[in-house]
Amino acid sequence: MQKIEQLAELRQVRTQWARAGESVAFVPTMGNLHEGHLRLVDHARSVADRVVVSIFVNPMQFSANEDLDKYPRTMAADCKALEARGVDLVFTPTADTIYPKGLAQQTYVEVPGIGDILCGTSRPGHFRGVATIVCKLFNMVQPEHAVFGKKDYQQLMVIRLMTQDLSLPVMIHGVETERASDGLALSSRNGYLNAEERTQAAQIYQLLRWMEQQLQAGEDPIELEHRGQASLTEAGFKPDYLSIRRRSDLQLPTADDHQLVILVAAYLGTTRLIDNWEVNRTPTG
Ligand code: PAF
Repeated sequence: MQKIEQLAELRQVRTQWARAGESVAFVPTMGNLHEGHLRLVDHARSVADRVVVSIFVNPMQFSANEDLDKYPRTMAADCKALEARGVDLVFTPTADTIYPKGLAQQTYVEVPGIGDILCGTSRPGHFRGVATIVCKLFNMVQPEHAVFGKKDYQQLMVIRLMTQDLSLPVMIHGVETERASDGLALSSRNGYLNAEERTQAAQIYQLLRWMEQQLQAGEDPIELEHRGQASLTEAGFKPDYLSIRRRSDLQLPTADDHQLVILVAAYLGTTRLIDNWEVNRTPTG
């Protein structure tokens, strides 16, 4: 596995691969890799000749009061895990390579509508940071395929739209969320939880599955949201949002929408956890 920090070197390798007719699947990450990321790598492996992973903790997607400095950096362990999984190249740019003029002077990409709701409301500027870095990394790596986790459901939709709107020649793949045996979605942020919080955290999954049953039994989504929020609070979480949306555009569902997704963001202590669950509601009548 090659580990490359410089863009010029990355471009050289990419050109060689293109000349040899080899396709590339790309997995962008912020490091601190867990089995969820490695499943994305496995998927990437299955769709292209070469797999590139980037590790870059992107300052543009963190706001001033968020955990950029605290974000865990585990480069040596990450590289070992990626090598064992058959990755061809890991790109580890510095902030100077990515944002040479600093963040204030950086051209950015913003996806209107979908980037402004849910996590976009609670974390203003977050999706601008995500769309900008992903667009830049696509231009650097020039992959035919890129792989993202469905755990970051809204992020995946923002990236799909950005790719479509900017006519980027990249096929976006969404991979199912990897969960611990108690159902907790794997996330780098789970490492912030103490033992008691870690046990408590699995209640998010239980709530999502309970809400799925209620929706399938015909319960009204708005009333169910309220009941769900109350359960979260009772279980010791501070809900940011718990919302039932239609899958096509993450807007509120009408009675005719049957392909739904329940999206949740909630704090446990100081840790913000997110998760989601897709539900297919049976048409009535
Ligand atoms: O999901 C992440 O880890 C990040 O948001 C991403 C897509 C690597 C962009 O920094």
